[in-house]
Amino acid sequence: MKNIFYLLFIVYIFTNCNDATQKHTKTNSIVLSAKVEAIFQKMTLKEKIGQLNLIRTGKSVKTGEVVSKNVEDKLKTGLVGGIFGLQGKRNIRSAQQIAVNKSRLGIPLIFGLDVIHGYKTTFPIPLALSCSWDMKLIEQVAHSSAIEATSDGLNWTFSPMVDIARDPRWGRIAEGAGEDPFLGSAVAKSMVKGYQGDKLSENNTMLACVKHFANYGATEGGRDYNTVDMSDIRCYNEYYPPYKAAIDAGVGSIMTSFNVLNYIPATANKHLFTEILREQWGFSGFVVTDYTAINEMINHGIGKDLQEVSYKALNAGIDMDMVGEGFLTTLEKSLEEGSINKDQIDIACKRILKAKELLGLFDNPYRYLEESTDLLNKDTRQLARKAATESIVLLKNNNSILPLTNDIKIALIGPLANSKENMLGCWNVAGDYKQAVTVLKGVQSFVGKGNVMYAKGANITDNLKLTNRVNALGKQIEIDKRSPADMIKEAVNISNKSDVIVAVLGEAANMSGEASSMADISLQDSQKKLLKALKSLNKPIVLVLFNGRPMTLKWESENLDAILDVWFGGTESGNAVADVLFGKVNPSAKLTTSFPLSVGQIPVYHSMLNTGRPDNKSHKKFRSNYLDIANEPLFPFGYGLSYTQFEYGKIKLSDTVLTPQKPIIASIDITNSGKVEGEEIVQMYIRDIVGSISRPIKELKGFEKIQLKPRETKTVRFEINEALLRFYNSGLKYESESGKFEVMIGKDSENLSKTGFVLYLK
Ligand code: BGC
Repeated sequence: MKNIFYLLFIVYIFTNCNDATQKHTKTNSIVLSAKVEAIFQKMTLKEKIGQLNLIRTGKSVKTGEVVSKNVEDKLKTGLVGGIFGLQGKRNIRSAQQIAVNKSRLGIPLIFGLDVIHGYKTTFPIPLALSCSWDMKLIEQVAHSSAIEATSDGLNWTFSPMVDIARDPRWGRIAEGAGEDPFLGSAVAKSMVKGYQGDKLSENNTMLACVKHFANYGATEGGRDYNTVDMSDIRCYNEYYPPYKAAIDAGVGSIMTSFNVLNYIPATANKHLFTEILREQWGFSGFVVTDYTAINEMINHGIGKDLQEVSYKALNAGIDMDMVGEGFLTTLEKSLEEGSINKDQIDIACKRILKAKELLGLFDNPYRYLEESTDLLNKDTRQLARKAATESIVLLKNNNSILPLTNDIKIALIGPLANSKENMLGCWNVAGDYKQAVTVLKGVQSFVGKGNVMYAKGANITDNLKLTNRVNALGKQIEIDKRSPADMIKEAVNISNKSDVIVAVLGEAANMSGEASSMADISLQDSQKKLLKALKSLNKPIVLVLFNGRPMTLKWESENLDAILDVWFGGTESGNAVADVLFGKVNPSAKLTTSFPLSVGQIPVYHSMLNTGRPDNKSHKKFRSNYLDIANEPLFPFGYGLSYTQFEYGKIKLSDTVLTPQKPIIASIDITNSGKVEGEEIVQMYIRDIVGSISRPIKELKGFEKIQLKPRETKTVRFEINEALLRFYNSGLKYESESGKFEVMIGKDSENLSKTGFVLYLK
């Protein structure tokens, strides 16, 4: 039922994506309450520009690491609109008191932080959570994060990141929902709803900030901050929908991206921030830059100095400057020189005041300092455990080796088996890794200490240069004093005495995330050597993988018995792994990004266009294929196994003719033919066979997660209406086209049965 709701919502989004040629009328109409308007009327130019200034402090205004200079003076003179990076009620209160009591107009500050996957309670990284395909859960996680963060004084999160990402070399793939715009849109909406709730002024909801507009995830070569060049058709059909979905869900702010898009840095891109965002989509919140993104445009070569790049940003439609203070220090001069006008500053200032008004800060600047919640409590831990188990993807399970019974001897091997430092994943600014549950601890709680033998077996990497770079934000890779050979020897000895080897391997948490691109996305050599030594023992091996990105796992998939992809599960990682390993929870997650067979295939994703010479798996000459490997990824989008089996019936269509007035229903029976209860994520894809432009070989157009008891059958129904078939054509009009379509339903993007229908528009 809940998924029908999401389907309808996505249909709504796609239906309401205005033609790129149409303009919105709502632009620039910001109506403030009488009280706030009266304050605005009293503001000097300097104070207005001050509202556009977002500064960063350390954890406390006075004593912590202060990134922005003279913070207290700036607060007193009304030169700050918001602060980010400040944590803890006392610090936030003291900053707010200065702004409210000591500045001329007493305008309250907003307080932002990267609450990306939890606050004190850390949930799975966003890429992991997206693999649950469970929108209710995702909303709950965002809401729980908001409750914790707001009870500590914060009211603005720089989340969700909804950048479509199809290149696992890019470290920030960890922060998003994967490769697909339909699923990405549903996730974007759930997260915005979770953070903002129904009413922003409640003291347990917070302003969300969708990021990074636009197309940061398509950075060339997967290298962070790099260039993006993309056709408008692809932007509108494949990369923009999740941003648009967040906006339709009412997100209050949006962040620019660091990259250049089609030769213009996003932060100076008027096409993005005025034409698309305001005129086409009618966004009425405010735009904040990414961290010093204005200043960085000097490096991008579109301005000779901070003044020029700053006025270019304002002219593009940017409202708030994160940290760089280009607006603060140069806009007055630009106004005198006529590069900008007064209205632009007024509008930007009003948008920020409006957000503060909606947050209820003008009524009570201390609103978010009143509630006290027990942070990281039993309930939030329970939710984190559930979220982590729902995010674990079972990639392989030969001879049903999993779940394990708890009467066997387990050799728990690997550098991530007993590593609290690596359980939370990247981008957790408030989480405390010391509170995390390791896999060793989780497994011991199921089978008792006596039945688990542990050895580290290998370092995450033996590469010192890489280690130093990864450890720049905190020690996550610990190079053992023992030699690699000694470590392997210990692991082999222990494994010899066991019934099963559980190898807990993968990446350190900070091998993904910002500025953590990797050219080689396989396991590090140290770990490959360990696995090969373990393999020679002829014992069953289960790989438990921690990773912030899809990895290349050809050898592992051919040689190991089972693979559980945990990603990074957050505070409750170890318990969640144990829940799944021992079958307390039947895994149900499915991949939201394809796992390439080799880096050479990147980008590889399910919704590609066809070529004129499709491969057909023939490997014939003059076909679109590689000489050395297959075209298909190792694990496709939508893939994931369960401890039970699901049988799919035939697709039934209520009609084979679809008109705008009469949708059709595609239905299919799914039966749990195995022995345990389980959840299945049923996926529907559609192919528009002939169009005015080339259309993808398949596009996700519906999904539903169902729960089935052994031998139970359920019928899943997807509504297909005309709006679902619309796309942006070469004139950027959002329209469907008459003709034949294929509808495919199945368990992943490759295992599908199909049938067809015809759309008649007239
Ligand atoms: C990141 C943003 C983040 C900001 C503030 C930037 O480096 O790109 O995603 O919100 O820093 O921490």
